[in-house]
Amino acid sequence: MVKMKIIDCDYLVVGSGIAGLTAALELSERGKVLVLTKKDAGETNTSYAQGGIACVMKEDDSFEKHVADTLRAGDGLCDVEVVESIVSKAPDRIADLERFGVSFTEYHDGPDRYDLGKEGGHSKRRILHSGDITGKHIQSGLLERVRATPGITICERTLVIDLITMAWLDRLSTRNSLLGHVDPESNRVTGVYALDCDTGEILAVRSPYVILATGGGGKVYLYTSNPDVATGDGVAIAWRAGVPIRNMEFIQFHPTCLFHPEAKSFLVSEAVRGEGAKLVLGDGSEFMYQYDERGALASRDIVARAIDHEMKSRGEPCVYLDIRERGETFIRERFPTIYDTCRQFGFDMARDLIPVVPAAHYFCGGIDAAINGSTAMPGLFACGEVACTGLHGANRLASNSLLEAAVCGYELARHLAELPPASDYKKVSVPDWEPGDAVPSDEAIVVEHNWNEVRTCMWDYVGIVRTDKRLERAMRRIHNLSTEIREYYLNYLVTPDILELRNIAAVAELIVRCAQQRKESRGLHYTLDYPAVSSEPSADSLIRDDAGRYRKD
Ligand code: SIN
Repeated sequence: MVKMKIIDCDYLVVGSGIAGLTAALELSERGKVLVLTKKDAGETNTSYAQGGIACVMKEDDSFEKHVADTLRAGDGLCDVEVVESIVSKAPDRIADLERFGVSFTEYHDGPDRYDLGKEGGHSKRRILHSGDITGKHIQSGLLERVRATPGITICERTLVIDLITMAWLDRLSTRNSLLGHVDPESNRVTGVYALDCDTGEILAVRSPYVILATGGGGKVYLYTSNPDVATGDGVAIAWRAGVPIRNMEFIQFHPTCLFHPEAKSFLVSEAVRGEGAKLVLGDGSEFMYQYDERGALASRDIVARAIDHEMKSRGEPCVYLDIRERGETFIRERFPTIYDTCRQFGFDMARDLIPVVPAAHYFCGGIDAAINGSTAMPGLFACGEVACTGLHGANRLASNSLLEAAVCGYELARHLAELPPASDYKKVSVPDWEPGDAVPSDEAIVVEHNWNEVRTCMWDYVGIVRTDKRLERAMRRIHNLSTEIREYYLNYLVTPDILELRNIAAVAELIVRCAQQRKESRGLHYTLDYPAVSSEPSADSLIRDDAGRYRKD
């Protein structure tokens, strides 16, 4: 047994992006809020969002049009009520962000003052942006506000290991180590075990309400626009506790990440195409109109697939963005960060074609959750990219993600205000962390190797174009790797690397399992074995049977 520090709070928020911080701010009026985040609080997927946040702002636009665009992108799998509700709540959340000091780029004073951007799949200009670093502005505005709010504590460099649930505690107390199915309905969350990444110490945080706002998991793939923190932690944690997971096959690949060996798939925002950039081959010829009448501004699933097809059929390593026509002054003013970054890698947007490739960008699936964050497990809530609410369906409309995170973070807090206060719940007694025979790792190379293998396997077999055979192959490899990872997890003291590896392997398995359930091509899931949309009524894929697997008990 390892003696643990125990921390108590009323509301535990895991993750410090837009969803988590919005929830934390609202909840601070009701009780003691603890925000756990695995790196520095500003290092989130939110911080890297470039394009902006979608919201109906002009007379010539309407909620109906925004809803229609979202449904069209979602390819038959959106929940219409959820879409209508989130779209209509956008203006209030934008007003909150402005109150928190986030400023969106404007043309001039007056009601139509915003410089609204356009992105793929939108029939109108409706993307509010802060230059080309919208996410950074939102992140710093919210964080400043959170840091100044009494009642919220941020605990950085702390990585959640697993949920502590009543069912798990019951199993331990009856010394029943069988890891059978747990009915999530009878199972309340009571807190989490977490690792202090600086000291290696294990903590137990007790809280009757746990909010997972951990973002997505682009790092499951070899190439991704996401930062290193995006390892799908929330989905993996919830799944291990038996919470249903939905629609994981719908991985959005962003069509235009900078193609350069050292650029780490730097995103070249879709807003660049919104301002007129064409997608071209090396000889300058446009190809997108052969695939969709909207050309380079078709929805992302279509554009990414078209690029993949052009690259593979021609044996080319990339395609190109061409925005030279807009001239240097406009480009530098509208996209200063993208311009500078491209320059750093040797490309001048005003003079050169910019080489781009698709890379994993966003999870449309996740923890099965309502707009108010509730999940099948009492006390457990999820919001932002980690959650699957029904807004995105089979493919997310650009810039709807920050919107969903802001709306759901807020709605979740409002919902929690109607539930019994934390003081109504008795504090449970949490067993000390049981390291078993674990010793410090002397085989870090195994983690490194398995990390690369999971990500390569997902890129090669579960990417933009899938087949039954590729999925089977991927599943076999992920299973073998998961067994090895579990052994490693049990035999060595936990480190951030092993915990993240365990999470990406779990998420990889969920993606493959959901993809295997879907015998059709729809939205972001495209398979050569079933190339058409099924004529059966569309349904979500759901996984709900893995309570307790891979846990250290
Ligand atoms: C982008 O700027 O292209 C990304 C925006 C988004 O993913 O919604």
